Amino acid sequence: MDTTARCDESEWALHALRRKLGSQAVLIGPEVPARNCNDWSASLPQTPLAVVRPLDAAGVAEAIAACRKARLPFVPQGGLTGHCRGAAPEAGWVAISLERMVGIEEIDRASATMTVKAGTPLETVQKAADDAGLLFPLDLGSRGSCAIGGNLSTNAGGNRVIRYGMTRELVLGLEVVLPDGTIITSLNKLRKNNAGYDLKHLFIGSEGTLGIITRVVLKLLPKPRSTMAALCAMQDYTAVIALLEAARNGLGPLLSAFEVMWPDYWNVITSRGGVRPPVGPGHGLYVLVEAQGTDESIDASHFQNWLEDLMQRGLLSDAAVAQSLAQTHAFWAVRDICAEFSRVLGPRVGYDIGLAVNRIDEFVTRSKSALADGIPGCESIYYGHIGDGNLHLVAWINGRPIERQPKSEMDAIIYDLVREMGGSVSAEHGIGTLKKQWLGHSRTDAEISLMRTLKAALDPDHLLNPGKVF
Ligand code: FAD
Ligand code: LAC
Ligand code: ZN
Repeated sequence: MDTTARCDESEWALHALRRKLGSQAVLIGPEVPARNCNDWSASLPQTPLAVVRPLDAAGVAEAIAACRKARLPFVPQGGLTGHCRGAAPEAGWVAISLERMVGIEEIDRASATMTVKAGTPLETVQKAADDAGLLFPLDLGSRGSCAIGGNLSTNAGGNRVIRYGMTRELVLGLEVVLPDGTIITSLNKLRKNNAGYDLKHLFIGSEGTLGIITRVVLKLLPKPRSTMAALCAMQDYTAVIALLEAARNGLGPLLSAFEVMWPDYWNVITSRGGVRPPVGPGHGLYVLVEAQGTDESIDASHFQNWLEDLMQRGLLSDAAVAQSLAQTHAFWAVRDICAEFSRVLGPRVGYDIGLAVNRIDEFVTRSKSALADGIPGCESIYYGHIGDGNLHLVAWINGRPIERQPKSEMDAIIYDLVREMGGSVSAEHGIGTLKKQWLGHSRTDAEISLMRTLKAALDPDHLLNPGKVF
């Protein structure tokens, strides 16, 4: 078929879809907003042919039917805060955005569940649970912008995995539209349901390559009545591991976050980021420990005594304990400042690595010197959810635009080291397109082949988010 005929067919299909779903639902050509042209990754944007913004699963199925008719690839979009180009369109694609599919459908207190539309921002979900006297514990720095459907599709991790697990562990059911337009309504609320395959897990973490999630049933938990936080300065990584073990033993199920920051990170956030942390500089490492309990009167003194005991035993070089919820939030500023790294650091490349907890400091030392030795002028900083074995690192050469940052050289140094140390090239952000070259460093050929088999079974025409993940 010649390209003019193909163009006409696309335009015809998109305009027919607009007549069906309404002009607010289908934005074509110059109407496409800039925000739908990329995700949060520092990569070059691409403008899709159209953005479709359905209101429900039936609308998504209509959008898919139009794309299939004109053989247009289509990509699901949530809050577009992903780091790997998973939600980024290519030129000539259609973006199916969940941005108008917003709202809480039900909170069932007896089942402790929430049924929610997939485009709802995470923060709205958190607030609705809180208003109902319950907790939805998933928490990421992007909470105000990311959508719950995007969280499922990336199996997001975040700050409280050590206590509540990743997104996968917080989902009971979902509704999804398959690449052929079939709507699967599997809004299960039962905690126990072994009737056949648990199909939701196919879609959680598959980065929008197997279906488009339209509604979700989430688990809710009891709301904590107390939150305690401490910022601890440590001499070295051996002391950090000892603190982690002491936190698991001494705080037990109350331990809700264990975030570690290396001195290079600390220097950047204090000097360039303007953060004023409650403990001073010059230490080997910094740890933000958080615990959440059910009884303020007991929990706060237990936390204080636990920490004082560690101080007396000489494990901590210094520590500050938050005296109020406002101070706890102020302590979290040392971690949440990452959301402003584009202002603080400028163009940079971010990594999200999984490693055995006891080898993370070795990785940091080796990676930092390999980057500095192998790429003149390359700086790197290290931090992350170390209680979960999840290290983040950011690398850059000062003053270079993103397209001139030596990403391929950085990738090769970092991911070869990850492979050698038996780690994962993605602990929580996913693969998208930016890491797919490195998937084989963390998955076997047989595993990737099974992923391809699943993709081919659900999307034989390869129209849903093609070329993502593998
Ligand atoms: P998008 O970026 O829109 O999409 C992500 C992927 O999911 C894409 O492949 C897309 O095609 C697919 N997708 C989106 N919606 C659907 C749907 N309804 N159905 C099917 N596929 C869909 N991530 C963490 O895991 N932990 C963190 O601690 C963390 N912190 C962050 C902090 C900041 C400041 C920022 C900007 C990001 C952070 N992230 C973190 C990354 C990001 O927020 C998460 O990956 C988040 O889950 C993405 O959600 P989203 O709605 O923005 O998805
Ligand atoms: C964080 C993001 C980068 O933890 O995952 O800050
Ligand atoms: Zn993270």
